[in-house]
Amino acid sequence: MYDRFNRKINYLRISVTDRCNLRCVYCMPAEGVELMQHKDILRFEEIVEVVKYAVSQGVDKIRITGGEPLVKKGIVDLIRMIAEIDGIKDFGMTTNGIFLDKYAQQLADAGLHRVNISLDTINPEKYRKITRTGDITQVFKGIEAAKKAGLNPIKINCVVQKSFDEPDARDVAELCKNNNLQIRYINEMNLETGSFSVVNGGIGGNCSICNRLRLTANGDIMPCLFSDLRFNVRELGIEKAFKFAIGEKPKSGHVAKKSQFYSIGG
Ligand code: 5AD
Ligand code: SF4
Repeated sequence: MYDRFNRKINYLRISVTDRCNLRCVYCMPAEGVELMQHKDILRFEEIVEVVKYAVSQGVDKIRITGGEPLVKKGIVDLIRMIAEIDGIKDFGMTTNGIFLDKYAQQLADAGLHRVNISLDTINPEKYRKITRTGDITQVFKGIEAAKKAGLNPIKINCVVQKSFDEPDARDVAELCKNNNLQIRYINEMNLETGSFSVVNGGIGGNCSICNRLRLTANGDIMPCLFSDLRFNVRELGIEKAFKFAIGEKPKSGHVAKKSQFYSIGG
């Protein structure tokens, strides 16, 4: 698939739930959020149909996100169903890592290639503050389990305030170096104001080479994180939703007033 700016679209990010077991300060309000209704959430069979169509159109890279994908009931089954589709070269998941200790081996066995784990500090109290509820020892266990399961490479997403040189980010970098993990720094973003920036060590945030589409848990294809354009696969049918999303993918994004990270998974 090519869009009107001749960008090759080969990457689909799939948010499987808007729910999360954490409440990171930059992502969700403490009291939680209004969640999608169960009836609006795609069933696994529907997600698989979307992926099959996407792959038939040239998508070869898939990432599962949330909310937190590991709170989704039956997630291992979904991973297996997607892994069985021919033509996916890169199959990853972005997770906060809390439940990886339990799931890493099952995910690897089901056919997941790799994981990105969110970690902004190595200090337990700071981690608790940032996530409001999280226990960092679970994340450390999760990282170990991911290594053991052979999920590779393991990347750590580290949200920074200003630069990769700040103390918490340096600590995370040190942890990564000692544990053979790759680090990606992400500047805190605000979708409403459209303030965002290129991720060091990642390829997001550079509109001219953007290769992505997103699928939300309720079936919207979103051509751009920084735009409110959405095309629902149930309303339009899969083919049309893709055609419209590709056809209207903006040259660059600006503001997205209706979007939230917890529902589109970054
Ligand atoms: N700015 C930058 N990154 C964010 N994430 C969540 N909210 C924000 C935000 N406002 C990140 C998480 C995780 C990924 C899924 O998105 O830290 O790594
Ligand atoms: Fe959950 Fe990720 Fe949002 Fe944190 S950033 S509340 S882990 S979805």
